[in-house]
Amino acid sequence: MLAGKRILLIVGGGIAAFKSLDLIRRLRERGASVTPVLTRAAEEFVTPLSASALAAQKVYRDLFDLTDEAEMGHIELSRSADLIVVAPATADLMAKMAAGLANDLASTVLMATDKRVLIAPSMNVRMWQHPATRRNRQVLEDDGILTVGPTEGDMACGEYGPGRMAEVPDIVAAVEDALANGPLKGKHVVVTSGPTHEPIDPVRYIANRSSGAQGTAIAGALAALGAEVTFITGPADRDPPLGVRVVRIQTAEEMLTAVNTALPADAVVCAAAVADWRMAKESGSKIKKDGKGLPVLEFAENPDILATVAGLKKGRPTLVVGFAAETDDVIANATAKRKRKRCDWIVANDVRPETGIMGGSDNDVTIITADGAEDWPRMTKDQVAGRLAARIAETLG
Ligand code: C5P
Repeated sequence: MLAGKRILLIVGGGIAAFKSLDLIRRLRERGASVTPVLTRAAEEFVTPLSASALAAQKVYRDLFDLTDEAEMGHIELSRSADLIVVAPATADLMAKMAAGLANDLASTVLMATDKRVLIAPSMNVRMWQHPATRRNRQVLEDDGILTVGPTEGDMACGEYGPGRMAEVPDIVAAVEDALANGPLKGKHVVVTSGPTHEPIDPVRYIANRSSGAQGTAIAGALAALGAEVTFITGPADRDPPLGVRVVRIQTAEEMLTAVNTALPADAVVCAAAVADWRMAKESGSKIKKDGKGLPVLEFAENPDILATVAGLKKGRPTLVVGFAAETDDVIANATAKRKRKRCDWIVANDVRPETGIMGGSDNDVTIITADGAEDWPRMTKDQVAGRLAARIAETLG
């Protein structure tokens, strides 16, 4: 049953759009509320009036409808749902999703959401088998997008093969499954993220260039798979994802305390760029230029949070994942780091300025486990997060 669940149903412009009207009815019969979003092309196949009548709700049609924006912006629209369903998901919609385009209401909602997305592809067999669609399917899978269908059969265009939208009862079953059983349901994952700030005196601190983008994306991806996430973040550029428990800290020592407080956990992902050193003694007042020469800063070593958690004798999480941002000999250094810190996986990346990774939106990582090194192609940090979250789900599952 789907009592109380809110489903945002994006209807794409394909011949199977007529089945989406029945889908609205079946979802509502099970207790869900359904908010339809029609693409312009969908309106060639079904009318907003019929979708609205079946949903007993307003239908959203156009990003630039100012009344809609005033009532409910596309960000809120995408986040007030428990699940987004795209049915039919046309080749065009899938390509937009894979590329991250946001040029109409449907694609903008899909970009803005932090909720799980289930697509029911529907298209001509050749379009389904086209290399571009194959690539897009892979990208969407890596992003953690759920898929139901398509099935094989006679097509409206007279051809035969895969590409028919899944039948309505199968889509309803996939919706129930997605809402009830995220693969990380019941698992607690702690994610550290962002830089730490180590005070020198009341106005100065030592920091680093970490934006928190990768850690934020990982926390969001884990939550989308149903995990209960504790997100422990230093002063980062990004807002934390929705749907996670946020703990804000400044220093490495505060981060360690927050991690210890958050345990037990099934997995800990240490994506934070923790300062290795803090001041041996923080000055209580602002250090002055007093003409007596340059100040000498004396450092003390910070606790290593990753090594502490990975070395726990009692209550060690099943999976401890570290990051290794390196500028030289990335794989060799990261492999040594995995052993030294006794963590299960290290996500290694090259942060030389010319890679544009530190502070950028892409990442190029190698996953180092006890079995060896696995090089992932360059992709967005969101895609790395989706793939890593899926991997974590597989391992904890
Ligand atoms: O700085 P380093 O390269 O050693 O960082 C590798 C991993 O260790 C990262 O996952 C980072 O979050 C973690 N780390 C930590 N506490 C520290 C230093 C690093 O948890 N004091």
